[in-house]
Amino acid sequence: MARGRFITFEGIDGAGKTTHLAWFREQLEQKLAAAGRTVVMTREPGGTPMGEKLREILLNEPMDLETEALLMFAARREHLARVIEPALVRGDWVLSDRFTDATFAYQGGGRGLPRDKLETLERWVQGGFQPDLTVLFDIDPDTASERRGAARAPDRFESETDAFFTRTRAEYLRRAEEAPYRFAIVDSSQSIEEIRRKLEQVIAAF
Ligand code: TYD
Repeated sequence: MARGRFITFEGIDGAGKTTHLAWFREQLEQKLAAAGRTVVMTREPGGTPMGEKLREILLNEPMDLETEALLMFAARREHLARVIEPALVRGDWVLSDRFTDATFAYQGGGRGLPRDKLETLERWVQGGFQPDLTVLFDIDPDTASERRGAARAPDRFESETDAFFTRTRAEYLRRAEEAPYRFAIVDSSQSIEEIRRKLEQVIAAF
């Protein structure tokens, strides 16, 4: 069977990514079932037993910024080697809730780690490998902050300031400008119905 495809979902916290991901997955599964293809759902940081342990640390323990970036990429290496790459070789399609664009956006844009360091790690960990499609849920930080609300105890990222998310969003958009052929930007301030229509177009075009 031909190699599978790798699709990632991105956006600042509160952009509604998780809600739409579940629906997107169902749509994709329906379309691919006829072709005998399986959809593998995964997430970052995480996606492997070790990656999930690193996620727990990354979301909760205060740490040096460089440590944070290195652990994100360490978890990613494990994820690529043990889950993503074998699945694509089997012919499965892989859907990941976040990937490397999140490190550029959060550790680079949000926290201010120099981009050249992240580019070095990106080349080291994944060579030229990139998602075939990245769906970016774009929203202004004010609306995102309202949506995040106070429903549950926020983690180290969710509790960041609007200024942090303004920089994070800007870096996501810069990454999209740099690689327009793999990005689909969804205006996340729209209604759920409007967003689903847009996602249907994205799947059809892809
Ligand atoms: P998120 O994907 O938002 O999951 P949930 O919806 O369960 O909270 O949580 C992951 C957090 O990790 C998110 O705040 C962004 C952050 N993150 C980084 O800072 N860098 C990265 O490279 C990745 C993958 C995630």
